[in-house]
Amino acid sequence: MSNSKTVFSELIQSRRSVRKYEQNIEFDHQVVGRSLELATLSPNSSNMQLWEFHRIISEDKREQLAEICMGQNAAKTASELVAFVVTPYKWKSRAEINAAHIRQAFDGREDATAKRALKYYEKLIPFIYNNDRFGFFGIGRKIFSYFLGQRKPMVREVSKSDIRVCLHKSSSLAAMTFMTAMQAEGYDTCPMEGFDSQRAKKLLGLPKQAEITMIVSCGKRAADGIYSDRHRVAHQDVIFNH
Ligand SMILES: Cc1cc2nc3c(=O)[nH]c(=O)nc-3n(C[C@H](O)[C@H](O)[C@H](O)COP(=O)(O)O)c2cc1C
Repeated sequence: MSNSKTVFSELIQSRRSVRKYEQNIEFDHQVVGRSLELATLSPNSSNMQLWEFHRIISEDKREQLAEICMGQNAAKTASELVAFVVTPYKWKSRAEINAAHIRQAFDGREDATAKRALKYYEKLIPFIYNNDRFGFFGIGRKIFSYFLGQRKPMVREVSKSDIRVCLHKSSSLAAMTFMTAMQAEGYDTCPMEGFDSQRAKKLLGLPKQAEITMIVSCGKRAADGIYSDRHRVAHQDVIFNH
C-alpha cells in the first residue's frame, strides 16, 4: 500500500532530466498552469516573491527559444517551456505588500513584536534591496556588515551581487516545486541554463534588470529521452554530520 512518504520518494526517484520528448501527443497545458500555481507556494527569501514565470506555449515562440537554448533537443522537442525569472526591481512594491499584510495581521497592535515585524519590511529590506547602478551601496553595506560582524553574528551577503544570488536561490526552489508537481501529474521536465540570456530576454520582452534563472522544458519523455543511467557521488562524500 502506498503512503505519502513512498509516493514522494517515488516522485523524486523517477524524475529525470529528459532530453527528448514524444512528439504529436496530447499535452495538457493546464498541468503547467497548475504546477506553476503550486510553485508560487515555494519558500522564498523574506516572502518578497521577486520572481516571474514566463510560459512559452506557441509553436513559433518555442522554435525561436529552442534555437536560443543552443538547439538542445530538450528544448527543440518540448511541448512547452517555462522561464524562471527574477525581478529585483520590484522590491519596493513587494516590501509594501508584505508591510501591509503585517499591519493587517497585527490589527493595530503596537507592541515590540509588531514593531519589529514592520521595521523589517519598512527599514531593513529597503536598506538591503536599494541598489545603485554600480553597486556602491552594496559595497557600503559590506563594509558596515564587516565591522558589525567583528562583535556579533552578522549576515555577510549584503552586496548587490549577493542579492542576485539570494533571488536565484528562491527562483530555483520554485523551479524544483514546479518540476516535482509536473512529475506528479505524469509529465517530464529538463532544467536548462544552456541558453543565450540576452536573446532569451529579448524574445520574452523582459527588462534589462530581469534575469533568467533557468528555462524548464516540459513534455512526455520519449522512449530514448533519457541519455544515461542516473549517477551520484557516494552519500558519505556529500552528507556530513556535525
Ligand atoms: C541549474 C541547472 C542547469 C541545467 N542545465 C542543463 C542544460 O542546459 N541542458 C541539459 O541538458 N541539462 C541541464 N541540466 C540538467 C542536469 O544536467 C541534470 O540535472 C543532471 O545531469 C542530473 O541528472 P538528473 O536530473 O536526470 O538526475 C541542468 C540542471 C540544473 C539544476
